[in-house]
Amino acid sequence: MSHSISLTVNGAGHDLTLDDPRITLLDLLRERLDLTGSKKGCDRGQCGACTVLIDGRRTNACLTLAVTLDGAAVTTIEGLADGEVLHPVQAAFIDHDGFQCGYCTPGQIMSAVGLIAEGQAGTDPERIREGMSGNLCRCAAYHGITEAVMDATRRMAEQDEKVNA
Ligand code: FES
Ligand code: FES
Repeated sequence: MSHSISLTVNGAGHDLTLDDPRITLLDLLRERLDLTGSKKGCDRGQCGACTVLIDGRRTNACLTLAVTLDGAAVTTIEGLADGEVLHPVQAAFIDHDGFQCGYCTPGQIMSAVGLIAEGQAGTDPERIREGMSGNLCRCAAYHGITEAVMDATRRMAEQDEKVNA
């Protein structure tokens, strides 16, 4: 039995028919929508490489059944930049060498965006490490990742101050 869902991905609406109710959001993104930025590291909720935002909340796409997402809004790494202008978290990862091979990076960045939006990033490296602990990096680029999240938090707070001034 097939299921129909409507969801928004990076601002674009999609009406989709799912022949298999077991398809995960990660497979839907990568195999049906050609959005391969979200990575499949473990496919069992242990590495965070597949992290996306669902209705603004950080979620492991590999653990989320697409059929449960009717009406949801999904943001992936492909939806962060504004044209050629990188999202502040993307820019900060580059500035602070927050990656080596880059495989975990889309998930790290999406998790950081979610953490900052939750107001949980702050300026304490230990707190950021804890908040990002669901995202593993085999290259151990953790120092740069933490620095990038701290810097992006500061940049985004400054941007908000300018907008609200
Ligand atoms: Fe989803 Fe590892 S691929 S948590
Ligand atoms: Fe290689 Fe994180 S940069 S796994």
